[in-house]
Amino acid sequence: MGLAYDDLERLVGGVSDDIARARDLIENAATAVVLTGAGVSAESGVPTFRDAGGLWKQFRPEDLATPHAFARNPRLVWEWYAWRRTLVAECAPNAAHRALAEWAIRRGTVTIVTQNVDGLHTRAARDAAGSADPSPASPVEVHGSLLRDRCSACDARSEPRPVDATSIATLPRCDRCGGMLRPDVVWFGEMLDEAVLAKADAAAAGADVCLVVGTSALVHPAASLPLHTRAGGGVIVEVNPEETPLTHAAAVSIRGSAADIVPVLTG
Ligand code: OAD
Repeated sequence: MGLAYDDLERLVGGVSDDIARARDLIENAATAVVLTGAGVSAESGVPTFRDAGGLWKQFRPEDLATPHAFARNPRLVWEWYAWRRTLVAECAPNAAHRALAEWAIRRGTVTIVTQNVDGLHTRAARDAAGSADPSPASPVEVHGSLLRDRCSACDARSEPRPVDATSIATLPRCDRCGGMLRPDVVWFGEMLDEAVLAKADAAAAGADVCLVVGTSALVHPAASLPLHTRAGGGVIVEVNPEETPLTHAAAVSIRGSAADIVPVLTG
């Protein structure tokens, strides 16, 4: 549950001026873009990458999240992604995902861009829309989705299949060409999908406010998107328990958790 504005003000007195300023910027923005990272899903139970206990503290990306790793050992890579699929299936959107989805649907001029591959923004959009159209809150997923397969030969995308990683022969294959399927996520050393990135770039460049939530802002080009907002005359509002490389570019940077702060900013 997110906190009510009054509770929050009482608890964090020192940052209440920042919260008031951020609310003001957000309320007065005609258009907004949101950039989220793993921190927005932390309170849903999805591990982040670089915090203590994060995925890249336990696993080596070069073994699991590169085209070479997949070519070398597709069973290991699939096992890891199948485990992550199970993990996110057991998680649910939190108060931050819900608040962002409700805000985007209410305003109609908010674009949610996420680096996350966990599908939680999409689930929150569906929940928030009810029988209405969820698309104003459907995220631009710049790093792809765990919940989609892609053919490593012909690039066709498909619904995720059950993964049997007992042997190479049992790994999922493309219906069209028989090529080996892979998760439709962007790996280290790969380019982002051009059309998806262009959509995120355009939203960032044209926004009055970029709300940045729960990203270490270390992985580019996603981490540069807020700077496009600033270059276009807009402002950055950041929510993160820690300082990041974007903190100094932000008009307001609030130290706090996504599920506590975001509902207060967008409500
Ligand atoms: P990181 O793990 O690098 O950063 C997570 C950020 O979330 C940190 O800045 C934390 O301080 C912050 N954080 C932690 N808990 C939070 C909470 N409850 N509320 C708000 N913020 C919180 O994750 P990303 O920045 O998303 O790439 O990482 C970027 C990319 O690196 C990922 O998309 C992934 C990874 O390699 C791909 O998969 C291509």
